[in-house]
Amino acid sequence: MDDLDSQRAGDSQLADAEPVGAASQSAGAASQSVGAASQSVGAVSVRDLDPAWLRDNCQCADCRDPVSGQRLISITEQPADVGLSSVTDTADGWNLRFEPDGHQAVVSRAWLEIQLTPAGDGRTEDAKRMWSAADFPAGPPTVSWTEYLSSDATRLRCLRQLLSAGFMLLREVPPEPGGVLTVAATLGYVRETNYGRLFDVRVEATPANLAFTRLPIGPHTDNPYRDPVPTLQLLHCLVSAADGGESGLLDGFHAARILRAEDPAAFDCLTRTPVTFGYRDQAAELRATRPMIGVDTAGRIREVRYNSRSMQPMRPAAGNTPAHAASQMREFYRAYRAFATTLLRPDLTLRFSLEPGDCVVFDNTRVLHSRTGFTATGHRHLQGCYADIDGAESTVAVLARRDARTAAANIDG
Ligand code: FE2
Repeated sequence: MDDLDSQRAGDSQLADAEPVGAASQSAGAASQSVGAASQSVGAVSVRDLDPAWLRDNCQCADCRDPVSGQRLISITEQPADVGLSSVTDTADGWNLRFEPDGHQAVVSRAWLEIQLTPAGDGRTEDAKRMWSAADFPAGPPTVSWTEYLSSDATRLRCLRQLLSAGFMLLREVPPEPGGVLTVAATLGYVRETNYGRLFDVRVEATPANLAFTRLPIGPHTDNPYRDPVPTLQLLHCLVSAADGGESGLLDGFHAARILRAEDPAAFDCLTRTPVTFGYRDQAAELRATRPMIGVDTAGRIREVRYNSRSMQPMRPAAGNTPAHAASQMREFYRAYRAFATTLLRPDLTLRFSLEPGDCVVFDNTRVLHSRTGFTATGHRHLQGCYADIDGAESTVAVLARRDARTAAANIDG
């Protein structure tokens, strides 16, 4: 079980509608190391826990809807001076009584162990497997469309790779218009935008976007001018370029980590400098202002937005003197150049050719994509769409639940 899986296990316990006591039936070996007479989990004593936290997470039928598991009472309905008046041992946990109102809760040791395990949101660098091109000497791992659809277990394995490595590559998806939407439906829901449910990437006579030309496109994330940004992107090759048009994927979290190790001041600057990205055509005008490297409250990398094509001129922050603004811009441009230079290291980009039927799916908050230029011959044609990564995370969680049930049934049988 990798980091992401163990975190998911904790999350699913949070969402489970089962009473707390029932969770103890799935207690792992770890719980056996805690004596039944002990009032502690590891180094933590139940009495040391915040009574307001214990009360807010009470799983009784007065506090939680037994069907949905959703909380029925708000924090303001609980006594502000809540305390623990008694803690009584049970076979697999504790009975708690709260003061001043005498409310009672049943807490299992297994449930408490899960809740005391540090957890992230699954989207930060801690939950990811970093990579560079050398990690894939034979090119990107691929799975045929038929195999991908053949079993839940295969789909689960592929989607777990999508979440941990940030991409997956399906082969032999019938190269027919709209096929990309069929792929999106296997992992979540399409995110419709002003480009439609899907968009065509091919050479246009009057392109509104450089993607629709033969020009090379450097590593970038898509649509940084949206907030929220599309979190997954799918690209399905219908016709490949006769010459050139090679694709590239780059782990932006890995690149940001390199920057943090080699130039911490530049990394820090990119995490706190708001950058405006914009897009406009006849029917749309979009702007979003976010840092290039987004971090969570613990400073862990959580999002990369990088697209030189749609970056707007920096403006001074409100209240800044021109001299201060100029100094901030100098600092930002030094950091931006350092990150851009890191992104161009050849060893970071995984290069491959998209053949008709190939469909690459990647995390647009982490993996940057690029392509080389191509010649006038051939009619390179891709179809793309966006989807939401939380939909893919949900699909993984549900498939994993089913997988665990099947495994348990096999053992029982
Ligand atoms: Fe793109």
